[in-house]
Amino acid sequence: MSTHGNRTAGRRWRAVATAATATALVAVPLTLTSTTATAAEAHVDNPYAGAKQYVNPTWAATVESAATRAGDPALAAQMRTVAQQPTAVWMDRISAIAGNADGNGLKFHLDEALKQKTGSTPLVFNLVIYNLPGRDCYALASNGELPATDAGLARYKTEYIDPIVDMLSDPKYGDIRIAATIEPDSLPNLITNSSEAACQQSAPYYREGVKYALDELKTMSNVYTYIDAAHSGWLGWDSNAAPAAKLFADVAKTTRLGFASIDGFVTNTANSTPLAEPFLTDPNKQVGSGQVRSAKFYEWNPDFGELAWTAHLHSLLVAEGFPASTGMLIDTSRNGWGGPNRPTAVSTSTNLDTYVDESRIDRRVHRGAWCNPLGAGIGELPQATPAGAPAASHLDAYVWIKPPGESDGASKEIPNDQGKSFDRMCDPTYVSSKLSNQLTGATPDAPLAGQWFEAQFVTLVKNAYPVIGSGPNPSPTPTVSPTPTVSPTPTVSPSPTVSPTPTVSPTPTVSPTPTVNPGASCSVKYTANSWNSGFTASVKVTNTGSSALSSWSLKFAFANGQTVQQGWSATWSQSGSTVTAANAAWNGSLAAGGSVDIGFNGAHSGTNTAPTSFTLNGATCTVG
Ligand code: BGC
Repeated sequence: MSTHGNRTAGRRWRAVATAATATALVAVPLTLTSTTATAAEAHVDNPYAGAKQYVNPTWAATVESAATRAGDPALAAQMRTVAQQPTAVWMDRISAIAGNADGNGLKFHLDEALKQKTGSTPLVFNLVIYNLPGRDCYALASNGELPATDAGLARYKTEYIDPIVDMLSDPKYGDIRIAATIEPDSLPNLITNSSEAACQQSAPYYREGVKYALDELKTMSNVYTYIDAAHSGWLGWDSNAAPAAKLFADVAKTTRLGFASIDGFVTNTANSTPLAEPFLTDPNKQVGSGQVRSAKFYEWNPDFGELAWTAHLHSLLVAEGFPASTGMLIDTSRNGWGGPNRPTAVSTSTNLDTYVDESRIDRRVHRGAWCNPLGAGIGELPQATPAGAPAASHLDAYVWIKPPGESDGASKEIPNDQGKSFDRMCDPTYVSSKLSNQLTGATPDAPLAGQWFEAQFVTLVKNAYPVIGSGPNPSPTPTVSPTPTVSPTPTVSPSPTVSPTPTVSPTPTVSPTPTVNPGASCSVKYTANSWNSGFTASVKVTNTGSSALSSWSLKFAFANGQTVQQGWSATWSQSGSTVTAANAAWNGSLAAGGSVDIGFNGAHSGTNTAPTSFTLNGATCTVG
């Protein structure tokens, strides 16, 4: 059992619990500070039920500012709806507790939360505990500040967890329900990546750090702990799921309160795995050469989405000794997969892989692609006990743990003092063996993990599913099958407001596409990197004229029936073989002599000749 050492300074009241008195919390004054203590709110089974959730005003202001730049009023209105949604506050390093250049501190947020709590309606504050020694052991983009050493663990306890607990245990916050997501990716990495040296090194510190966090956080009856449980595309196979449930139980058993130290689990944190695949509802269905789950995309994993995964995991947890009341959260901040590339019907192909690839709404190149995936959209809005979700999933809520618009990692090396490294999974030009030797499908030009990434935010809002604006808090998408194994719902089609064309149509108010610009002159460098039936193209457009452009529109034609699937840094559209890339809202001005780098992912059917003729604002460009 942990001792509390010298940590009494900021702590006015200390709630103490032992395994034997798990529910009998006792408030113990540690100093003579005269603050009037209100008894912390009694613990409830599902903290989200009947509650509001905290809206982070700093993040909301960033979203509001993006809305002012959106150009298109409809898009701006959708962004403003997004700005009103609750998102989690991440304590991603020690300095985040007091506040740093990247955000306000914990006390600021808790005080704001007090202001948002009105009347007797409970308020849930979503908090992310994310600073373990040796953090992100299998990746680089979110490596942290603490080394996987005894000294790192000591700092985690005394400089990170203890000050957070001190702040939370101020009696004035006793009526706020603190829902803590505990250490994304940490325990799951010990299941699948224990052969990696860095994860081996981190393993004991992850276990001890998580135990310590649980012991300390669960001294307050208004705190709810949710352990990160990866997502279906990571742990869905029984060979991963069963050991994961056992590891969670093993860690719980080391804590002071045992199973009672964990209120629930949160899946899909900062990931983009859908709730379910509306057109692939039976993993065992036979198509062509085998069962759907044996297709390349699923690699025999039976769980195609988070509703299946939460149900699967819950049953394994109960078998390990967790109570049936253990609740589940799903991060739906970026798992919507709407927009122009969303399939509208089940495939008619008899080739298994084609059938799966044409039917799935998850448009990633591989389910292991986690960094800023192109084409992802915002998913269900945060909501408690979502209607229509299977009872077996035991959902407490859909939540937005990853604030939409914040990057997962930089697409290039960016020096920083947070310990974050360059992970090539965030580099769109990188072919990764972790993704069956495919390009990562990451959005280009991404900033460091956690930084605002407006280009990605715009896509997330445009590709939201359900489409944002269909109501203040719409019930779950009708395409989510109530139980993941029931028959498909092929008649459900996307909202008619989603453009049915396979490319993004430009919004006339955003980018006027002038036909001719007298005196315009330009040069274009087009490079493509092809594989099987896909390619990524980079296009450098230079204004070689003598005057600046305030908006621009590039046109070219494909010779072999190629199609643009997903573009960036411009508004892409295609009509027949002709492709138009109009400036995005933020890069319309192009100085004389200035260049802009744009690009897209495309599809081809064998031959992929580069276009040879380009026009910019009507003027023919030199190529090369
Ligand atoms: C980053 C954190 C950030 C969080 C939320 C993580 O990937 O490493 O620094 O706070 O995302 O955006």
